[in-house]
Amino acid sequence: MSEPAVSVDHVSKHFRVYSDRNQSLKATVLSGRRAKYQSFEALKDVTFDVPQGTTFGLLGRNGSGKSTLLKCMARILNPNSGSITTRGRVAAMLEVGSGFHPELSGRENVYLNGSILGMSRQEIDRKFDQIVDFSGVEPFIDQPVKNYSSGMYVRLGFAVSIHVEPDVLLVDEVLAVGDMEFQDKCLDKFAQFRDEGRTVVVVSHGVEQMRSFCDQAAWLDHGTLQAIGDASDIVDRYSDVGHGAEEAAGGGKRYGTGEIRIDDIHLLDAEGQPIESAPTGSAVALRLRYTARQRVERPVFGVSLATAGGKHLWSYDGIAAGAVPDSIDAGSGSLDIRIDRLALMPDLFDVNADVKDHHKTRTFDALERSLRFQVTSGSPRAAGGSMVLDASMTMPMTES
Ligand SMILES: Nc1ncnc2c1ncn2[C@@H]1O[C@H](COP(=O)(O)OP(=O)(O)OP(=O)(O)O)[C@@H](O)[C@H]1O
Ligand SMILES: [Mg+2]
Repeated sequence: MSEPAVSVDHVSKHFRVYSDRNQSLKATVLSGRRAKYQSFEALKDVTFDVPQGTTFGLLGRNGSGKSTLLKCMARILNPNSGSITTRGRVAAMLEVGSGFHPELSGRENVYLNGSILGMSRQEIDRKFDQIVDFSGVEPFIDQPVKNYSSGMYVRLGFAVSIHVEPDVLLVDEVLAVGDMEFQDKCLDKFAQFRDEGRTVVVVSHGVEQMRSFCDQAAWLDHGTLQAIGDASDIVDRYSDVGHGAEEAAGGGKRYGTGEIRIDDIHLLDAEGQPIESAPTGSAVALRLRYTARQRVERPVFGVSLATAGGKHLWSYDGIAAGAVPDSIDAGSGSLDIRIDRLALMPDLFDVNADVKDHHKTRTFDALERSLRFQVTSGSPRAAGGSMVLDASMTMPMTES
């Protein structure tokens, strides 16, 4: 085993929180009193290793200490006790615009930021065109960055950080600011870094995104390490306690990156009227209404059906149906999933709905148990179970 890229060893960090909130520093000094403060523990005895060459996710609720930990790794903050060891060149993308000077142009900031991150002038000269090209802000490169949008800031900052060719790249949340195309570019870059044996530590609230591109993850809760391990397991455990997901209308969970949102889903009868129950064997449709925040290419909408007890029965999506559009524009729309014959036994059923990218690695929106409906008796009949098949039976006949 090679040595870890980052070793976090019994790290604690406290902040002073001043209780006298209206007291300015000047007033405090003039009054000759000591300002009153309480010590707040943002990190409590955190210990773990980030293995070399992994893409490592940090997750936890707002205020759980993720950014504080990244800042300690980047040596912007010093732990009060414990220590952090990093191996090789470290580059950090911490907050939007951090390390950028607003009055300077994009070009000047590339040089400023690049040198802060440890690049020589010649190295920056050599990589300048690549950096600007990756950032996509070329037309604005000679304008002061104070005129940049937050997306442009992040693109340029990220472009500089990755061209430092760090052994360890620390990324805090900022990717969420970029558009989808840029996010994809970054994810590709993370994959390339991993192939090159570099290490990426990334904070994200996009838990599904984290599941798809992180190998390992650590979960912080109120400054303590809650769990560490395989990213997918950690995401499951974190999601199980209800974080990172909000309640969907039907009481189920909702999660996703949000480019498209599923507004609601209804059960319709053959005439297109909304219904809450339908007999076995009848023709029904599920109407899914959505709102796209932006133009999205090749979205894959899908539904699945489960018994009220949670047993998965059926999934169906745009790929199975041959109904993946080239793109959908920003705005609201709907689609119908027609079911010619509802082959379900009388019971209660739940519908889950989601919309993903065409690789099905990014979930734009997913709603669990977004609709519950009742199947009443109809035909064909069955003796038990959840489904009905077109079946028949011959009369028993004794042959000898
Ligand atoms: N400079 C500071 N002074 C005082 N308290 C601070 C300081 N920086 C962070 N904190 C506190 O430490 C705790 C952890 O903050 P931190 O920014 O690390 O959380 P986080 O997990 O990154 O949250 P988020 O998801 O909102 O970004 C919070 O309660 C925060 O208020
Ligand atoms: Mg943070």
